[in-house]
Amino acid sequence: MGARILVCDDEAGLREMLSVLLRRAGHRVTTAQTRAEALERLAEQRFDALITDLALPDGTGMEVLSGALDRDPSIQVLMITAYGGTEEAVEAMRRGAYDFVTKPFRNHELLALLDKALEKRRIVDENRALRETLGASFRAGSLIGRSPSMQAVMDMVRRIASARTSVLITGESGTGKEMVARAIHERGARAEGPFVVVNCGALPPQLMESELFGHERGAFTGATQRTDGLVRAAEGGTLFLDEIGELPADLQVKLLRVLQDRRVRPVGGQREIEVDIRVVAATNRDLEADVEAGHFRRDLFYRLNVIRLHLPPLRERVQDIPLLCAHLVEKHCALAGRPPLELSDAARRWLLEQPYPGNVRELENVVERAVTLARTDTIELEDLPRGAEDRAPDPGAVAIGPGFDIDAYLGAIEKRILLRALDEAGGVRTEAAKLLGTTFRSLRYRLAKYDIGGGDEPASDD
Ligand SMILES: Nc1ncnc2c1ncn2[C@@H]1O[C@H](COP(=O)(O)OP(=O)(O)OP(=O)(O)O)[C@@H](O)[C@H]1O
Ligand SMILES: [Mg+2]
Repeated sequence: MGARILVCDDEAGLREMLSVLLRRAGHRVTTAQTRAEALERLAEQRFDALITDLALPDGTGMEVLSGALDRDPSIQVLMITAYGGTEEAVEAMRRGAYDFVTKPFRNHELLALLDKALEKRRIVDENRALRETLGASFRAGSLIGRSPSMQAVMDMVRRIASARTSVLITGESGTGKEMVARAIHERGARAEGPFVVVNCGALPPQLMESELFGHERGAFTGATQRTDGLVRAAEGGTLFLDEIGELPADLQVKLLRVLQDRRVRPVGGQREIEVDIRVVAATNRDLEADVEAGHFRRDLFYRLNVIRLHLPPLRERVQDIPLLCAHLVEKHCALAGRPPLELSDAARRWLLEQPYPGNVRELENVVERAVTLARTDTIELEDLPRGAEDRAPDPGAVAIGPGFDIDAYLGAIEKRILLRALDEAGGVRTEAAKLLGTTFRSLRYRLAKYDIGGGDEPASDD
């Protein structure tokens, strides 16, 4: 499994030697003698790696390096430098070369380096391919999200969809637990089968057992017909047990038996009936704590928790908000039968800054309302429920990314608070220090840091 390698050196002997060495190692080799020739070869075909001398008759290896990287950012470049050329070599690496060897070098040294470079190339290529697929899968069916946590959830959904393993989905209210449960069902082998939702918190306790497991005729007063129950209604499909933490203790035992033996016994029945269901459970409670407190059976917990999917609150995945907004605006415009609306910049910014205690459901309600209220083809700030305006936005929910500067961000907050304290203290720094719960000395240091002047206190040196 050879790689395609371009060797660029004006020294015929070295070029020959490298060609032989690399071909013997199983690679396909192309050679060039000059900078111009190397650039020509690079224009003609893709190479996995480039090995180039730094000193070339018509230029430098540095130019070949840039030319190669311009064409293919994942090409791996090894520089050959003369003895003493370390500084240039370091510069080459700064510009994107993988590594360098100094003449005279040992063959195995070069080959080992090349192997590592090619390995890196493979990983870079693989990651790019992965990113491309992920790009397409910022939506997985109706599930939307680009944050690492949602990407991990979607990846897990894909991986577990076709198994029968039980899944426990946790997360605050409105984070999308039911959506994820549906996604698991729809992407799996049971998609053709039923998806049965049971809200364990909403069933009246005395009816719950027969609702779930069915009953025989005459099993209790009023049982004039036999029923299958919800568990059997999910035969061949998925049983979604929502708010599983609310399941009463006696039913926890019975559910455990269903999970263990894949059989149900209807109320008043003698026989057990085999079922083929997949169970997905969800809760916004801390089920581990319920187990510790003795409110939830540990054995049932372990049975359900075979695979755990946790949906973080929306405020911890702000990156998802723009995507969700776009999707939800589209969705509600379609539902309302109006042409797609735009979001004004101000509206977008406001939406990004809200704390969303009700998570995606809350965001969806806000968007739905805005779609109804919008008077033009754009959703404006005034279409958003800004009654909560003076609710301070959560400073920890700011959008972060490679361009984010934590020091500048925290600095800006610090500076605003300092200015406010000075203002409230009427410019008296000892007073401002008191308001901030700090010392005069510390305040003075902070003010100097942000170049905030003023003040006329004794410049004591305490
Ligand atoms: N990742 C997502 N992509 C698109 N829509 C989402 C996503 N997550 C949630 N939603 C939307 O948010 C709403 C709430 O989702 P869902 O009902 O699944 O939440 P939940 O966690 O089950 O809430 P609860 O605990 O209150 O039952 C749904 O209308 C769904 O359309
Ligand atoms: Mg729900």
